[in-house]
Amino acid sequence: MASVPAPRLADDKGRQVSYLRLSVTDRCNLRCLYCDGQMRQRLTHHDVLRYEELLELMGMAQALGIGKVRLTGGEPFARRDFMEFLESARARFPDMSLRLTTNGTLVAPYAARLAAAGVDRVNISLDTLMPETFARITGQDLYAEVRRAIDACIGAGIRVKINAVAMRGVNDLELPGFLALARELPVDIRFIEFMPMGGAEWRAEQVWRASDILEKAQVLARLTPLPRDAEDAGPAQMFAIEGGRGRLGLITPLSNHFCGSCNRLRITSGGVLRTCLFSDRVYRLREALRHPKLGLPAVERIVRLALRNKPLGAELLAARRSGQGVSEAAMSSIGG
Ligand code: 5AD
Repeated sequence: MASVPAPRLADDKGRQVSYLRLSVTDRCNLRCLYCDGQMRQRLTHHDVLRYEELLELMGMAQALGIGKVRLTGGEPFARRDFMEFLESARARFPDMSLRLTTNGTLVAPYAARLAAAGVDRVNISLDTLMPETFARITGQDLYAEVRRAIDACIGAGIRVKINAVAMRGVNDLELPGFLALARELPVDIRFIEFMPMGGAEWRAEQVWRASDILEKAQVLARLTPLPRDAEDAGPAQMFAIEGGRGRLGLITPLSNHFCGSCNRLRITSGGVLRTCLFSDRVYRLREALRHPKLGLPAVERIVRLALRNKPLGAELLAARRSGQGVSEAAMSSIGG
């Protein structure tokens, strides 16, 4: 039976939802101080969506008009057979734009297979270019592995974006090093303002604001702001660097939010839908998905309902900035 294409997903504020962030695991081999400083309780094996279930959700997303899926974690490669899962996702959804966010520590051996699976962009989290600082931030001495992953991905023809959480007292002296890297390699280096999230300590003084980064960077390099390209840059304001192969980007969830153009949904590895990073309003999909009489049609109804209430996170952020964190959940469970 030929199916009628579902209407595109739009929320109650007219925002078109075209992008799903799907976390494949809440486990990670790092313990980054901004993400999940304390050891969290992890999902049990039973509560984590099986790969087949993740594929079902991707199929639903595609049917709803979502053309772009970013696989996140935890650390995706910390889940067994992640590469095989990615390959089956590609086989099942040949037209889907498949992307990856990873800490890079386990990626180097897979670069060629990622490229072959059509993963043409990879975001690698790397907050410092100094091995000792890396160990202090992440708890692991794996800086060299991440650098190998960056080289391997570039070598395989994958576009690499580096995400660096901008933190005063941690990496705010490293702008010259990052700019040098962006001159040398064709990578986008994107600084993300340090956000208060559950599970990690956060103080306002630790936020290295984008305006300060820009001011400093302009002394060190000749920068040209690039027009926003929603498809490619997402929420980042990008700058070309004169004489550089790469670019500089600033992501400003705190100083200049981008909620008005938010096009994303998030589903955790436990099958929980979040329509906003800053909201703890969650929608449990797993129970419906596994229910013998409900299944995907019910999941789709929940997604549509949830979207009608997709909040403007900036409002939540403003109201709760003074408190502990805007979200009770750790970034490691949501996937960024
Ligand atoms: N503030 C800002 N960015 C964060 N990330 C994780 N935790 C935080 C935080 N508290 C970023 C990581 C990763 C992305 C998924 O989210 O750099 O690249």
